[in-house]
Amino acid sequence: MEPILVAFLFLSLFCQSKPEAINLIGVNYGMLGNNLPSPAQSVAIIRTMNFTHVKLYDANTQVLKLLSGTNIHVTIMVQNHEIPPIAGSQALADKWVATNVLQYYPNTMVQFILVGNEVLSYTSEELRGMWQGLVPAMKRIRVSLRAKGIRRIKVSTPLAMDVLESTFPPSSARFRPDLAHSVVAPLLHFLNGTRSYFFLDVYPYFPWSADPETIELDFALLQGDHRYTDPGSGLVYTSLLDQMLDSAVFAMAGLGYRDIPLLISETGWPNDGDIDELGVNIRNAATYNRNLIRKLVVRPPVGTPARPGATIPVFIFSLFSENRKAGRGSERHWGLVNPNGTSIYEIDLSGEKPASGYEPLPVPNNDEPYKGKLWCVAGKEKSVTELAAAIEYACGSSNGTCDGLMPGRECYGLVSVPQRASYAFSSYWARFRSQGGTCYFDGLAEQTTANPSDGSCMSPSVTV
Ligand SMILES: *[C@@H]1O[C@H](CO)[C@@H](O)[C@H](O)[C@H]1NC(C)=O
Ligand SMILES: *[C@@H]1O[C@H](CO)[C@@H](O)[C@H](O)[C@H]1NC(C)=O
Ligand SMILES: *[C@@H]1O[C@H](CO)[C@@H](O)[C@H](O)[C@H]1NC(C)=O
Ligand SMILES: *[C@@H]1O[C@H](CO)[C@@H](O)[C@H](O)[C@H]1NC(C)=O
Repeated sequence: MEPILVAFLFLSLFCQSKPEAINLIGVNYGMLGNNLPSPAQSVAIIRTMNFTHVKLYDANTQVLKLLSGTNIHVTIMVQNHEIPPIAGSQALADKWVATNVLQYYPNTMVQFILVGNEVLSYTSEELRGMWQGLVPAMKRIRVSLRAKGIRRIKVSTPLAMDVLESTFPPSSARFRPDLAHSVVAPLLHFLNGTRSYFFLDVYPYFPWSADPETIELDFALLQGDHRYTDPGSGLVYTSLLDQMLDSAVFAMAGLGYRDIPLLISETGWPNDGDIDELGVNIRNAATYNRNLIRKLVVRPPVGTPARPGATIPVFIFSLFSENRKAGRGSERHWGLVNPNGTSIYEIDLSGEKPASGYEPLPVPNNDEPYKGKLWCVAGKEKSVTELAAAIEYACGSSNGTCDGLMPGRECYGLVSVPQRASYAFSSYWARFRSQGGTCYFDGLAEQTTANPSDGSCMSPSVTV
């Protein structure tokens, strides 16, 4: 071949190269807690921990100002409710970019703008309206950036695994038919055309905890010698995380897109939770995140079986445990650090420290399921006014829940508000747990193995 032609081929290969490889271990900084450090303290914690990338769930003014002049890249988010108006108006997109980006950029290193959060997981009629606006809003935000000469900030949107209809085996994965062609295809077209990333929230914890009989804990924790061979592709898997990532890779390929790079916008493992939750402990959380970092920082990168050699940036979920989140106890325990800034467990972001280099962690007692009775009682030192309102809610939820508290009945003698709340919470939970009811009551309730029954007054219990 002519040297000039070789040079030309080389150059053109080089110029068409995949999106600039970025090597990042970032952290999600959510603020749904009432005991969290101030933004200034939080940014100091992020810096002390040596994170170089942070992802926010909004475009918090204070945080963006505090990050100015630091070496920390920041990912900001357009709120879900802002999507329809921005989709419909370039002027609103321009305004959003002016307010949330131009004021700070480039002193604050905004790297990604995410449009919405897990938008396609909202399936109610009312919220499906956002789906149609998603890609148009992303396009408008990008147009606004371009109009200001900003080419470095990429636009994307984080999706949850439930955008996939099936994930197993990975080679058979497809996007849900209700959105594959209407929303995902245009989204992939946009990401491919703008050399952006497919942002995916991936939690091996969830499929594992839903089916711990079939899936080995070590396979979910990125360790052990379990191997799974996908019969469709022949690819061999050593972790649940790789299976989940590759199911997204195969689903994208099913729509014709083979080269859009993946970015893990959230992953992690809960360090605590309710008594009836399995595997939610510090040892598993530390093991998962340490193995994750070690796997993703290796050079040259290992990628996944379907994407060998790919670099996969990741944002760990989460900096803090957020105590104002609803749902199971585990939802409020994803943090890496305590509100006072001390680590819940040590992690080394360089990934160089071997597993044996860490202090041993306490052996958990919830890697095996708890078996026995549970009650849902009022937590200590809760406001009586709030408990009274929660009793109203629990007792009003269906007739009969609080019959035992009626005059003449066996628990009428419970006089204090916390006692009556404990009866009402236990009764409500015993009735609705099978339908997804939780023992939470906006933070007023907690699970206990200690029977609160008193004399002839028996609190209803749940047997697990
Ligand atoms: C952060 O990096 C500095 C310099 O490399 C190092 O001395 C320090 O131990 C690191 N901190 C943590 C929490 O890993
Ligand atoms: C994705 O982008 C690349 C590079 O611009 C292009 O060659 C390819 O055709 C695109 N893929 C699809 C399915 O549009
Ligand atoms: C920080 O908070 C944790 C958890 O509440 C506690 O165990 C630890 O003693 C505190 N450390 C300091 C230095 O206050
Ligand atoms: C109350 O109980 C009756 C009899 O069991 C039942 O028919 C009715 O649907 C219940 N109402 C509510 C609101 O649950």
